[in-house]
Parts: sequence; structure tokens; C-alpha cells
Amino acid sequence: MKIKILSLFPKMFEGFLHESIVKRAIEKKIAEVELIDIRTYSLEKHHHVDDTPYGGGAGMVLAVDVVHRALTANCSEKSYKILLSPQGTPYHQKKAFELSSKEELVLICGHYEGFDERILKYVDEEISIGDYVLTGGELPAMVLTDSVIRLLEDAIKKESFMDDSFSTGLLEYPQYTRPLIYDGDEVPEVLVNGNHKRIEAFRKKESLRKTYLRRPDLLEKYVLMPEEQKLLDEIKKEEQR
Ligand SMILES: C[S@@+](CC[C@H](N)C(=O)[O-])C[C@H]1O[C@@H](n2cnc3c(N)ncnc32)[C@H](O)[C@@H]1O
Repeated sequence: MKIKILSLFPKMFEGFLHESIVKRAIEKKIAEVELIDIRTYSLEKHHHVDDTPYGGGAGMVLAVDVVHRALTANCSEKSYKILLSPQGTPYHQKKAFELSSKEELVLICGHYEGFDERILKYVDEEISIGDYVLTGGELPAMVLTDSVIRLLEDAIKKESFMDDSFSTGLLEYPQYTRPLIYDGDEVPEVLVNGNHKRIEAFRKKESLRKTYLRRPDLLEKYVLMPEEQKLLDEIKKEEQR
């Protein structure tokens, strides 16, 4: 997969692209990330990319012609163009899976007060990473890049993300590692006895419990199998005690 990132601050990606799973995926040629400086597409002598908003108000707005030129020069038919914006569709794991099957993603990072609204005509989708406002689209672009790259074949083991929170529609079960006892807290006995059937049953139930306690909204969208419904009824009784 190729990911092109259009930004006014490409240097912000330096650490991100050179560490951990993202770095390894790039080295293994599973993903290719290209940073494109939007400023290069300004026709102004001083490379201005923004201007004051029509109608007045604070801040500067990224000009439509500059971003459009950057898109035209860097996109082809295979490009899936995403505008990062707090006004976009909220991002979630299902979308990350969907994007991971695209051949090429183009991520457009805004800055300042945002974009000239007319830029929407030239993109495929507008995505928000949450209901808060960041200074620029660089961190959201890193969030999308990271969440998509880890789903690409051979970036990490498939089993590692198949049980991840949201992949199944539930939160992941609790995990433990050595030491067996820490500050009086012991790892659940079922996880150390080597009985895989019991471990699987424990994990299913605790995944349901965590979701019920922390994110009941996820359960509303989740289609429970009859045995899961039974487990959930048990959990509800247990939690009432
Ligand atoms: C300061 S924000 C502009 C916010 C804009 N004035 C508004 O109220 O919708 C500047 C840029 O940061 C990025 N950004 C900020 N928060 C974001 C979020 N939650 N999700 C995605 N992008 C975001 C966008 O690219 C945006 O154009």
C-alpha cells in the first residue's frame, strides 16, 4: 500500500515513520509513505498557502487552489483521498479495516482555521479522529497511517489484531504476564493451567464483561450468539452482587 501525506509540516512525521511497526513495515516494503509539502504548490512568491476568511473572523484558511493543485499533481485514479477534519465522520476500527484494502491513500492535513470549504469537492471522504480540535491534521494522519499499516498483511501477526478491541465488536479480554503474583494480585488461575478450552471460555466471558462495564454502547450494536447471551446474563447477575 502507498500512503501519501499532504502537510504543511512534513517534518512532524520524522519520529513516527522511523520507529516500531510502522518503520518495519516500510523497511519490509509492506507500506510506502510519501510526505508532500503543500507549500510547494503555492504560486505565491513567499509560498503563502492561506488567507483571511471571507466574512471576517479569527485565523487563516487554507486556500482551495493550493490544495487542489497538490492533489492534482499527486493523485491518480487509484488514490483514495481523505481530508482530515474535526467535522468528518468519526474514525473507528471498521474504517481502518476498510482503508487497509485500498491501493493508495492520500491524507490531507489542514492547519490554522481549516480549509476553504470548496476543497470537499476534490476528496472522497472527510474523517475525524474524535470530538476535539487539534492544531493540525498531522496527528490525525499519523493515527490513520498507524492503524491502517498494522492491519496490512505481514506487518504484524494476524492473530495479534483479530482479538484486538473493536475487531470483534467487543473490547479485548484482560491480559497478564509475569510475575504470577504482584503486590498481592494473582493472575487468574485459568490462564496458567494450560487448558486451552477453559482459557478461551474465560477470555470470551471477560471480553463481554469489560464491554458491558465500560462500553455498553458497543453491545447495543453487537449481535450476541445464544451462548454469549447466556454469558452476558451471568455477568449481569455477578456484577449486581
Ligand atoms: C484547528 S483545526 C481547524 C478546526 C476548524 N476551525 C473547525 O472548527 O472545524 C486545523 C486542522 O487540524 C485538523 N484537525 C483538528 N482536529 C481534528 C480532528 N479531531 N480530526 C481530524 N482532523 C483534525 C484538520 O485537518 C483541521 O483542518
